[in-house]
Amino acid sequence: VPNVKELAGTCNGTDDEIPERYIRPEVSSDEVIKNNHGDMSIPIIDLDKLISPQSSQEECVKLISACQYWGFFQLINHGVPDEVIANLKNDLVEFFSQPLDAKKEYSQLPNNLEGYGQAFVVSDNQKLDWADMLYLQVCPTDSRDLRFWPNYPASFRHSIDAYSSETENIGLCLLQFMAKAVGVEPKSLLSVFEGQARGLRMNYYPPCLKADKVLGLSPHTDPGGLTLLLQVNDVQGLQINKDGKWFSVNALNGALIVNIGDTLEILSNGKFRSVEHRAVVHPSRERISAALFYYPCQDLVISPLPDFVKDGKVKYKTISYQDLLTEYFTAELDGRNRLEKMKL
Ligand code: SIN
Ligand code: FE2
Repeated sequence: VPNVKELAGTCNGTDDEIPERYIRPEVSSDEVIKNNHGDMSIPIIDLDKLISPQSSQEECVKLISACQYWGFFQLINHGVPDEVIANLKNDLVEFFSQPLDAKKEYSQLPNNLEGYGQAFVVSDNQKLDWADMLYLQVCPTDSRDLRFWPNYPASFRHSIDAYSSETENIGLCLLQFMAKAVGVEPKSLLSVFEGQARGLRMNYYPPCLKADKVLGLSPHTDPGGLTLLLQVNDVQGLQINKDGKWFSVNALNGALIVNIGDTLEILSNGKFRSVEHRAVVHPSRERISAALFYYPCQDLVISPLPDFVKDGKVKYKTISYQDLLTEYFTAELDGRNRLEKMKL
């Protein structure tokens, strides 16, 4: 499939210039709730408050409600140094701004997501997303395949490494509080994710004059545990589907957006929700984001943890994590439908 930045450069925005496979009629007809505030926007969770004994209980209540009703929240006071975030942002802007030939040195290989390219295409009539991406496995460090790690800008590898190590504990810390807040042994979720793999997916959404005709990223849920999303520039585009309505997320400067993936929904027996989301594009400005995925241990057999099945009713089928991934990568992104099929 074509490189989307190149494609965007040749389309001046008339409908017949955008290839049919990118046209998404639903985008212009979907109602989107914008400029949301208060109860209408995703909650803000303060990691400092979560950790401090005098404010922890109150913040835990907010955390649980965020995980149950939104499946998303914005994390502030997360402790990742400003400089680490700024360096990664600068290097991402610089990397994607290069000519295609320079980026192609890190191209994905067939049937592999790692490297520079586009999301998986699994069928000839599948709609395509208006985005290019660079995906890297960042952890464990000895699993890094440096062939795909750009060495331009010169500081890029270091920026990714620093961001990856500074964020390692955030997800693990949140998992403990999520368990604790619902009265479950804090180690129960932690033990599934501690020391496991993490991947970083850096998304580049070129502008599109007919932005309401395309989608940057199709509606989907994330397959893993937690995702930490960094919006790299000030162009908004994330939308989440709550109770059948699309809400645009206004990413706070300096915050990290956290969401729950399918594995965590199943492990928690539905207590925490893996919520459908998508990304739209801007008519005149590029958008860049970086999603860090916390994966469970590779040989996990996913079924609700006994601690979460207090009333004795298991709500999900058992599936191995490998099978869940296979299903995820061999079908088109299809909102929450794949996950719904795992319900009993
Ligand atoms: C994602 O769902 O991984 C990315 C969404 C975004 O770019 O905001
Ligand atoms: Fe996602």
